[in-house]
Amino acid sequence: MPMPEKFVFVCINQRDPSHPRPSCINNGGGDVFNALREEQGRRLLTSTKIVAGGCMEACMVGPVIAVFPDNVWYGGVTEDDVPAIMDHLEGGEPVQYLRIGDAEFDLRPPEMSEGGF
Ligand code: FES
Repeated sequence: MPMPEKFVFVCINQRDPSHPRPSCINNGGGDVFNALREEQGRRLLTSTKIVAGGCMEACMVGPVIAVFPDNVWYGGVTEDDVPAIMDHLEGGEPVQYLRIGDAEFDLRPPEMSEGGF
């Protein structure tokens, strides 16, 4: 099997529910990861590697997904979004309504100070 052309990192990080910052697994990250893998299999998309990963720091808008080398970041992903993401991975355009950027990475819960956690 040749090297993957793209990598998709899906955050499945889990924190204690008492933590002020949400965690992607509690917001459906695991379901999204499984749905992506299932859809990848249906489409026989072998050029992409889908990887379960840890926190990528945009926790306030999770579940978070990062696509490389495209450097495209998605937030608030649900299982319903998986077909559109797979279209992107098959060579289509990024899914604009899911894209996140610097603003989402700066979000913090009110009870947290800058630079915490
Ligand atoms: S817990 Fe998923 S981005 Fe932080």
